[in-house]
Amino acid sequence: MPNVLIEWREMEGDKGTVCLTGGTGFIGSWLIKRLLQEGYSVRTTVRADPENKRDLTFLTSLPGVAEKLKIFSADLNDPNSFDAAIEGSKAVLHVATPLSFDGKESLEAVTERSTSGALGILKACLRSKTVKRVVYTSSAATVIYNGQETDMMDESFWTDVDFVTQKLNPKTHPYLISKTFTERAVLEFGTQHGLDVVTVNPGLVVGPFICPKFPDSVRSSLALVLGTNLLLVLVIFFSFSLNRLIKRGS
Ligand SMILES: NC(=O)c1ccc[n+]([C@@H]2O[C@H](COP(=O)([O-])OP(=O)(O)OC[C@H]3O[C@@H](n4cnc5c(N)ncnc54)[C@H](OP(=O)(O)O)[C@@H]3O)[C@@H](O)[C@H]2O)c1
Repeated sequence: MPNVLIEWREMEGDKGTVCLTGGTGFIGSWLIKRLLQEGYSVRTTVRADPENKRDLTFLTSLPGVAEKLKIFSADLNDPNSFDAAIEGSKAVLHVATPLSFDGKESLEAVTERSTSGALGILKACLRSKTVKRVVYTSSAATVIYNGQETDMMDESFWTDVDFVTQKLNPKTHPYLISKTFTERAVLEFGTQHGLDVVTVNPGLVVGPFICPKFPDSVRSSLALVLGTNLLLVLVIFFSFSLNRLIKRGS
């Protein structure tokens, strides 16, 4: 099965091509919109949809999309599946992540998918010979649970996995720990292989959304209204990191 789902011809003379994983998500879809506005061509990935049930018109109807957007099928469970989307790109924004807060998946399974998928993407970047920079969307969650009593943190701070395991709700462990291990792994890979890897660490991201799914972070910000227990826990965990953004890497 070809993994190019929707394709337009790229225009000559634009700002170049950026590959973004997780185009169906809250942040990913906003980034696609902004990249197109700024004149970039975008290659984005979505998970396979064998029965063709998924409506991607929220992406394909974006302003400036004609001839500028290609949508590929790729999955973090198959780390090599990102090659075609990355080929020819000058930058990769790795935004996709396994979001797991329902306790159904083990910490090990989520961490394996997150780290192997991210490293597969970085290897594809090296093979492409065109990618100049990779931006991994990490999280404030990889920084703030460091066990230290301080409000001021910088890129030298890392979440303490033992602290998370011992003190925080087990349903949060797969996300918090997989993000921490994945960020460490991508930075280490960048250093080892001379690849320019940068990570960003947003706090809770809220606001309007253009994707059809009600984003978990927006839902959690409304937890007091909606009364969802786990999400209420998340908003308490993340609320003190609002508006804090740390950038690691070069
Ligand atoms: N929103 C926040 O408050 C916040 C805060 C800090 C960091 N972040 C980080 O920002 C990034 C985007 O978050 P978001 O809020 O936009 O989440 P989101 O709306 O749930 O988007 C997650 C994206 O990842 C994709 N994905 C999940 N599992 C995948 C897999 N196995 N293979 C390929 N793609 C997969 C999803 O695809 P489907 O649509 O198919 O599920 C979706 O496109 C994540 O890395 C997250 O850790 C978010």
